[in-house]
Amino acid sequence: MRNITLLQNDWRFGKSRDAITESVTLPHTWNAVDGQDGGNDYFRGTGWYERELTAEETAGEDVYAEFAGAAMTADVYLNGEKLANHAGGYSAFRVRLTGHLAEQNVLTVAVDNSDSRTVYPQKADFTFYGGLYRDVKLIAVPREHFELEKDGTPGIKVTPVVDLDKKCAAVTVETWQNAAEVTMTVAGQTQTVPSENGHAKAVFTIENVHLWDGVDDPYLYTATACLASGDEVSTRFGCRVFACDPQKGFFLNGRSYPLRGVSRHQDRKGKGNALSYEDHASDMAFVREIGANTLRLAHYQHAQEFYDLCDENGIVVWAEIPYITMHMAEGRENTLSQMRELITQCYNHPCIAVWGLSNEITAASPVNDDLLENHRLLNDLCHRLDPTRLTTMANVFMLETDSPILEIPDINSYNLYFGWYLGELSQTDEFFDEYHTTYPDRVIGFSEYGADANPAYHSSHPEKGDYTEEYQCVYHEHMLKMIEDRPFLWATHVWNLFDFAADGRDEGGKHGENQKGLVTIDRQLRKDAFYLYKAAWNKTEPFVHLCGKRYANRCEEETDVKVYSNQPAVRLFVDGTLLAEQTGRTVFTFRVPLLGEHLIRAEAGEASDTMCIRRVAEPDESYVFNKAAASVTNWFDADDIDPTCFSISDTLGEIRQHPQAGAIVDAMMAKGASERGDVADAVKDNPALQRMMGRMTMLSLLKQGGADEESIKQLNRILQGIKK
Ligand code: GCU
Repeated sequence: MRNITLLQNDWRFGKSRDAITESVTLPHTWNAVDGQDGGNDYFRGTGWYERELTAEETAGEDVYAEFAGAAMTADVYLNGEKLANHAGGYSAFRVRLTGHLAEQNVLTVAVDNSDSRTVYPQKADFTFYGGLYRDVKLIAVPREHFELEKDGTPGIKVTPVVDLDKKCAAVTVETWQNAAEVTMTVAGQTQTVPSENGHAKAVFTIENVHLWDGVDDPYLYTATACLASGDEVSTRFGCRVFACDPQKGFFLNGRSYPLRGVSRHQDRKGKGNALSYEDHASDMAFVREIGANTLRLAHYQHAQEFYDLCDENGIVVWAEIPYITMHMAEGRENTLSQMRELITQCYNHPCIAVWGLSNEITAASPVNDDLLENHRLLNDLCHRLDPTRLTTMANVFMLETDSPILEIPDINSYNLYFGWYLGELSQTDEFFDEYHTTYPDRVIGFSEYGADANPAYHSSHPEKGDYTEEYQCVYHEHMLKMIEDRPFLWATHVWNLFDFAADGRDEGGKHGENQKGLVTIDRQLRKDAFYLYKAAWNKTEPFVHLCGKRYANRCEEETDVKVYSNQPAVRLFVDGTLLAEQTGRTVFTFRVPLLGEHLIRAEAGEASDTMCIRRVAEPDESYVFNKAAASVTNWFDADDIDPTCFSISDTLGEIRQHPQAGAIVDAMMAKGASERGDVADAVKDNPALQRMMGRMTMLSLLKQGGADEESIKQLNRILQGIKK
């Protein structure tokens, strides 16, 4: 049998080798605070961890140390002797200690999250926490044991192949070991097979197979293998069939199963990425509550515990490596090793449907031969290590849809932020319709979309960039309908289920956070938009949710009260009197007169929700974040414009059709672009983006570009002097 010791306590930590004095327990990150407070100044460097190993802990014929996550690179020393180096902050690795153990033993680990030209990630919108942020264990095994070192393997690999018509599965179990034979057990069947060149293989047939059927019935089997020495490994597995159709989207076990869900980063307030099992389980509870049936586990390999939770809950997963934003010519080997480890370590999880090759890798890099070759090598590696799953990649919105890179993975997805970073909501619909029409035989998905919202900010006239909960709801209501109208989308993932740390950000009234989450980073608050998806996806828990609880002070005579519910009818009461009843689906909006302070109650079946709102004489300034943008919206009223002349409410394309007006705006755009460097270059040379910008109003473009109110007024005055 194996003897596994969790090394959680009695560690010392320090930021230099000769000052390893701070007592810490694992899991640990040194960026739990400075990685979440904004300013992009969190410590990136080397952290030293040290711990004595007792004689009891190191007892055994063959002893290994296992590191489940050491970010981003790690050097492992025993009694001062360097035994190993590992490059990659999100995968497990093991180091053999036997042969180097002495009477007294000190394990030292130098972990480093500095800038690197060879290890990903290096440029992305999330904090690259450093530390031993997952468990460290000692594994003592008999002399004859299953493989422990190669790519952090579990030692056992299970490949179930399902025949839906015959309702059976052929289950191939493979193991790697330094022993002569292996006894394997699956579904009550046992086989003893020889080990040839350290590899053993047996095939089992399961009749009347119990399928792993997504959230409805995530049935798991267990495969076990053991050696005469007593060493034993086991893994759970699931029998299912995934497929993708360019017209009809995703299929599970032969039936249409549109993947509709969210993304998740592995961090939370005050803990960084040093999460406990309870943290993982709590995140999964949010996933189940919202009713998602898929998760994109971005942008790296997540903890085994979380893939286990996805297996147990029937959540279909997009797994990926952190090959992200910026291609590094010297990073090719690291992409391959991180992908090898991801697949080797996660292969047995039935929840995983696809391997993601990269994320927005052309955002800051040209599509050149080296980048294309890196993707071809990754794609081939995935197919070699795992012929049972598809490869995909998440593309940045400005990547031309005729780019050769899109032909490399089996299927594709795009990250689109029209209606938030730029452009209008409807451009998302146009993008997918144009893509699907142009490439009817290509599978396409929606890998990211979202809008930031700070629960403190509110408006009765929500608009892009105001960081209000109300705009986040408007945004997601549009996207939900866009998605429901396009069943060809194989998967859609809201970016993001949770706010997460991006220490380089300082916006929307928060420091160091990306606030596109539907839940706050501390998991304490579900934003209103969370309930929109719950209303659309959760079919088991009847509920009704009043939006705008935090928008209590309203400076208007009548106000919209929006209600989300998964019930077919909602009744709204004001101060105990029924105001109206509506039948419908998901979103219900009521117009409510405001005379003073009111108790609002919504009822839907047995479910109910209440809130208190009041009319106030002056707008509550605390609800407004972007006062500059708000003032532009306030002064600029399209009714005051002479429609026979150009104005900033015309689109760039319309204005450019007039030589004089076009010359004026092009001069302004050129001036703006010169201040924005690389992003502007990407725009200038990108016909798809130029087309898209042509459809945007000048006002939208100017606010997007951060133009001040005076320059916007100035341009409007000039344009109003030019007859159309
Ligand atoms: C990109 C990127 C994410 C990032 C998101 C955003 O699509 O893939 O990592 O967080 O945009 O800007 O919110």
